[in-house]
Amino acid sequence: MRLRKLVSYGIFVLVFVIGFGFTTVARGNGNSYPPPIPQVTFAQQTSDLMLSTLFAALTQEFDETTVDNVEQGKQSISLIFNDENKDMRLVGTVGPLRENDRPRDDFERQANALALTTGEPLTSVQRVSGQWYYRRSVPLTNFRAECALCHANYPAGPTSDKVGALMLRVPIRNY
Ligand code: HEC
Repeated sequence: MRLRKLVSYGIFVLVFVIGFGFTTVARGNGNSYPPPIPQVTFAQQTSDLMLSTLFAALTQEFDETTVDNVEQGKQSISLIFNDENKDMRLVGTVGPLRENDRPRDDFERQANALALTTGEPLTSVQRVSGQWYYRRSVPLTNFRAECALCHANYPAGPTSDKVGALMLRVPIRNY
């Protein structure tokens, strides 16, 4: 009798686990198609706001950069572009200041290659670890004299040399 009880309990647990497994898979499939246009547009508009904010912050930092505060400026930029934050990254392969700034996935590799050749931006709506994102690159050139103060391997600027890209990604809400 005890054995029968144990067996039926075992079956109950098995059914529960399988059922849970199926619902998880089903939920996963539920958002595996591209999100609808309005949600993508919302993320795109968010990324425009984010870009203006970042651009203003970087411009402020460049305006304040002198030969005397290069190291402090570098630390400041590194803290803003904290490596833990995958939603905004400075990426480049022209003697990068940080190894972490090399392209990390297919999107970044493709975007960096474009930034260094045609200088064109790249955008994409794609899933990263189960979350849909609007991703974009903003190609960068050596457009200010201050670039070379911190990036010793860049030519004295401003020049139109292509050096990498700012990568932004915005999670698509409810997707
Ligand atoms: C005050 C110093 C400073 C100035 C000025 C500066 N940068 Fe940087 N830059 C940094 C730091 C620090 C990093 C690394 C950020 C990090 O920790 O991810 C970086 C990263 C980058 C990267 C990613 C590849 C790499 O080298 O790590 C690119 C591309 C880049 N900067 C372009 C520019 C351009 C273009 C300018 C001028 C318009 C510029 N930077 C001016 C400090 C500076």
